Amino acid sequence: MTTLLDELAALEQEALSALESVTDLAALTEWKSRFIGKQGRLSRLSRGLGALPAEERPVAGQRVNALREQLETVFTAAKERLEAQAIAAELAADRIDVTMPGRQPAVGYIHLTNQILRQVQQIFAEMGFQVWESPEVEYDAFNFSLLNFPDDHPARDMQDTFYVEMPAGAPSVLLRTHTSPGQIHAMRRNAPNPLRVLIPGKVYRNEQVTVRSEMMFHQFEFLAVGRHVTMADLKGTLSFFAERMFGPGTQVRLRPSFFPFTEPSAEMDVTCFLCGGKGCRICKYAGWLEIGGCGMVHPNVLRNGGYDPAEFSGFAGGFGPERVAMLKYGIDDIRWFYSGDQRFVEQFG
Ligand code: DAH
Repeated sequence: MTTLLDELAALEQEALSALESVTDLAALTEWKSRFIGKQGRLSRLSRGLGALPAEERPVAGQRVNALREQLETVFTAAKERLEAQAIAAELAADRIDVTMPGRQPAVGYIHLTNQILRQVQQIFAEMGFQVWESPEVEYDAFNFSLLNFPDDHPARDMQDTFYVEMPAGAPSVLLRTHTSPGQIHAMRRNAPNPLRVLIPGKVYRNEQVTVRSEMMFHQFEFLAVGRHVTMADLKGTLSFFAERMFGPGTQVRLRPSFFPFTEPSAEMDVTCFLCGGKGCRICKYAGWLEIGGCGMVHPNVLRNGGYDPAEFSGFAGGFGPERVAMLKYGIDDIRWFYSGDQRFVEQFG
């Protein structure tokens, strides 16, 4: 009897002093299994109860239970304390320094070509032009014949492109070389009502890629058809556009030219916005910059679009936004546009 009670007292001392040196949860778990676990010291001592004389058993049993309860209580207290400490330590280690400068998120940019196209659309919208989309994959007929390019005419060779392989006997299909086929689509959808449309988009040419030419670039086409539309309307439209795009005071000059789908046809120049027409490096001392082509819609094209040329007339023009951007920002190589080089794109963000 004495021995068991003594042993219990010794165990109490030992357990409590061992607990004092427990400083983390792992050590506490060890402590628990060592003293009050199923195979622990207390369980082993309590097995000795059965060997005691019957009259001594209740006192010893109570002592065992009291000690188990006591050790479990100190265990729980220690566990709560150590858990709180662990959380506090973690919070201290993970402290967020709110004064640290943030990381700059990568921000996307609207591509320069699209910036110009949006600007152009805005300017033409003010004059009542609707934006019209037309397919990039096009019938040969829409790209050439319906625009009054005679079959086998050398004018076709100036716009070589990529052809789609078609089954034998199927109509010829290609990547459009210009946005002009959109004229036929727009006219056919609107005839015989008057119309004003702006047709932006990608065009393709099978060309040697150089500083001046890419095999893919953009154009925007404008087209107005109605009764009594004259070349004065064309010039007025171009003047408004040029002043908005390149600044007040910009003048427009039309030079006679040839396109199969317009008659008469003209190249459009604007006064150099850098030197104001005096002559400089950008305009090669001409004072003028060539911007695009235009003219009065050819009667055959009007007819192919569903309008009677005796009653209707129209003007049209085509421009390259990359060229406009190159002039406006002094970009010396068109290949920058689709090089994917961030340093180029970011400059115009
Ligand atoms: N389609 C011509 C080209 O790609 C540009 C053009 C010239 C369009 C005169 C027109 C126009 O609408 O009238 O070179």
